[in-house]
Amino acid sequence: MRVIFNFKIILKNLILKLFFLIKYKYRFKKASFIHPCSNIGFNVKIGKGTRINGICFISNETMIGNYCAIAHNFRVRHRNHSINYPNIQDYLQNKLGISSLTVFKGKIEVGDGSWIGDNVTFLPGAGIGKGCVVGAGSVVTKKFDDFSVIAGNPAVLIRTRFDKKGQHEFLKSKWWEWDVKKIKKNAEFFNTTLN
Ligand SMILES: CC(C)(COP(=O)(O)OP(=O)(O)OC[C@H]1O[C@@H](n2cnc3c(N)ncnc32)[C@H](O)[C@@H]1OP(=O)(O)O)[C@@H](O)C(=O)NCCC(=O)NCCS
Repeated sequence: MRVIFNFKIILKNLILKLFFLIKYKYRFKKASFIHPCSNIGFNVKIGKGTRINGICFISNETMIGNYCAIAHNFRVRHRNHSINYPNIQDYLQNKLGISSLTVFKGKIEVGDGSWIGDNVTFLPGAGIGKGCVVGAGSVVTKKFDDFSVIAGNPAVLIRTRFDKKGQHEFLKSKWWEWDVKKIKKNAEFFNTTLN
């Protein structure tokens, strides 16, 4: 097999990655990892220890907690277009200097310690509490409580994580706020299931 290296493309990708790395490391100092080719809007908070492992698109006013695991192609849309005007396109409306089409349903939140599978979309009004799981390919349209395991389009609750005692232990620990030293010291806590 012959491998062809296109140095122009490799160099272009390297420069692009470096640019995004500097950009996101500066904005989200405490976040462990955000895929460098991601597109992230204004007023976005990404908590410490959270890993966004694939390219994502996160629009404005999104709050992501600490130690979340977010897979490929996570998309957050914080606004709808109003569908009550003759025109439905932002560009034309802005050009005419008239009413904005934006319909905003509030901040979108992803709770601490949640896991989001591949190809998940959060629509305006969506949100999940702490310790949630969102199945691959889900489209989340509303808010879900702590520990919800949700999936589908539209996403629905398929189960809840942990029994009441486990949920209490999880919340009481607030482990996602611990510093790395404390996390390492309490490795046994992370090696014990909560049921
Ligand atoms: C959400 C998830 C964790 C649930 O796993 P689980 O607890 O083992 O759930 P089950 O396989 O027992 O499925 C329970 C029900 O939910 C449905 N379901 C599970 N995942 C689903 C999904 N992503 N979309 C739609 N429905 C789903 C199943 O069909 C099943 O429905 P049924 O009861 O009518 O038969 C898993 O299905 C998933 O999507 N994982 C994400 C994997 C991923 O993206 N990995 C990459 C990042 S590391």
